[in-house]
Amino acid sequence: MPMVEVSAIQLDALAQGLTGLEVGDTKLLFVREGNDVRAFQGTCPHAKAPLADGVLCEGRIICPWHAGAFDSKTGALLEPVPLTGLQRHAVRVIDGRVLVDIEPMHTDALAPGDALAHAPDDRVFVLVGTGAASASAAALLRDDGFGGRVILVGPDAAEPLDRTQLSKMALAQDAFDRSTLPLLDDELQKKLKLERIVARVTAVDPGKRQLTLSTGETLAYDAAMLATGAQPLALSIEGGDLPHVRTLRSLSDVDGILAHVEPGASAVIIGTSFIGMEVASDLIDRKMNVTVIGRDEIPFAKQFGPRVGAALRTLHESKGVRFRLGTSVQRITLDAVIVNDESLSAGLVVAGLGVAPVLDYVPSLQKADDGGLVTDTALRVADGLWAAGDIASPSGWPRIEHWRLAQQHGRVAAAAMLGRDACYEGVPFFWTAQHGKRLQYIGHGRGDGDIAYDGDVEAFDFVAWYLEGGKVTAALVCCRDRIAATLSHALRRTRTLAEARAMVGLSAGGQ
Ligand code: FES
Repeated sequence: MPMVEVSAIQLDALAQGLTGLEVGDTKLLFVREGNDVRAFQGTCPHAKAPLADGVLCEGRIICPWHAGAFDSKTGALLEPVPLTGLQRHAVRVIDGRVLVDIEPMHTDALAPGDALAHAPDDRVFVLVGTGAASASAAALLRDDGFGGRVILVGPDAAEPLDRTQLSKMALAQDAFDRSTLPLLDDELQKKLKLERIVARVTAVDPGKRQLTLSTGETLAYDAAMLATGAQPLALSIEGGDLPHVRTLRSLSDVDGILAHVEPGASAVIIGTSFIGMEVASDLIDRKMNVTVIGRDEIPFAKQFGPRVGAALRTLHESKGVRFRLGTSVQRITLDAVIVNDESLSAGLVVAGLGVAPVLDYVPSLQKADDGGLVTDTALRVADGLWAAGDIASPSGWPRIEHWRLAQQHGRVAAAAMLGRDACYEGVPFFWTAQHGKRLQYIGHGRGDGDIAYDGDVEAFDFVAWYLEGGKVTAALVCCRDRIAATLSHALRRTRTLAEARAMVGLSAGGQ
């Protein structure tokens, strides 16, 4: 394929760092470091964010939307959310002119076809659970050349989904394209040579390296990763099992909620969890009258602190959401929710009370105080057995129920299953979207400690810094994607507030 000259681009004019350009119909990302120029696909493999809006940070291209990170020299995937690396395009610089091949160097950045060429291996690796952790683990195993069997076991026959989109997109918009939901569609599962068993695991015997399935069969493994995730907490009150009382965890849950959606009708959300408040935002978009009932006086105060929590409450109220806070529900009837002896009309009730890890099948494995499986820093539970995601409490970390963290865990556990030195050293990251405001949270901090702010919290254009002993433990970033992307890497090391601010170009109290 002939190289194409990038019109109007001379090396001298190409900025250091990231530049997005369209060459013909092809969106490309140019990375210039000194006089070295490379080109990659211009959009993120996860949800097609324009990568030029991200950052180049210590040899990483970091996506602006969900902090996926790629090696700036090779395009290889370094951090999820994506499952694949970037397609790379050949570049030559001749006499100060930049030439690029618009055909990628590989037709598939993950090169799953290479699985065919992987050295034969008679080991059996089993991934229990079909969510984010298992998808990431499966991709890494094949990407790293594992040629043995990889078996996914889970009770749901459907393709593993990108669950974050359920409350952020699928419920809000009729126009949402559901074809973007599968994490591992059938085609990718085939390319990765994944085997599926539709069953629950009912017991694990680490000594025998054997799983017992709900079908009554047993499954021997050489290495296994448990990633059974969490289940929404049910409402244990009168009426909590009525058909219009729903939770949200799966695509069928989305459809179950939509069946009760009616513009102008009333809905009640029970619980001020992220899911609960995202659903409140979705139902306002669907023109419903929405009331949120919660035990906390200020939503999200525990996670984000009272000031951000109050701003979020005001945002919801400005869109029409009503609150009954500092209280709990007495009972639910066919058309109402009773709280403080007040009857709130409700043809739809959504419980967003949080989740509990699914661990009933491993009663004898050691649990941490937070309810997760105790693991070492490589997420190892026992010889040949690892745990990842919502069910894992790794050494030095609490149990954290975030989707991207589950993917990070999946990659660490998979690397350890392959015998590599592996240790969870990533930075937790999650995002929430409510009424068009996207907040990105990086790290693991506390909302009731010291918090410093840059920008305007009430205008939703800010960075909040969570501090312990003068060090930054976490940051909450709104409307400043590049800062969030930079911090997703920068907070791998302990930083003072001044250091962290300097890394993202902010001065104290700056805008
Ligand atoms: Fe890049 Fe999601 S769009 S990580």
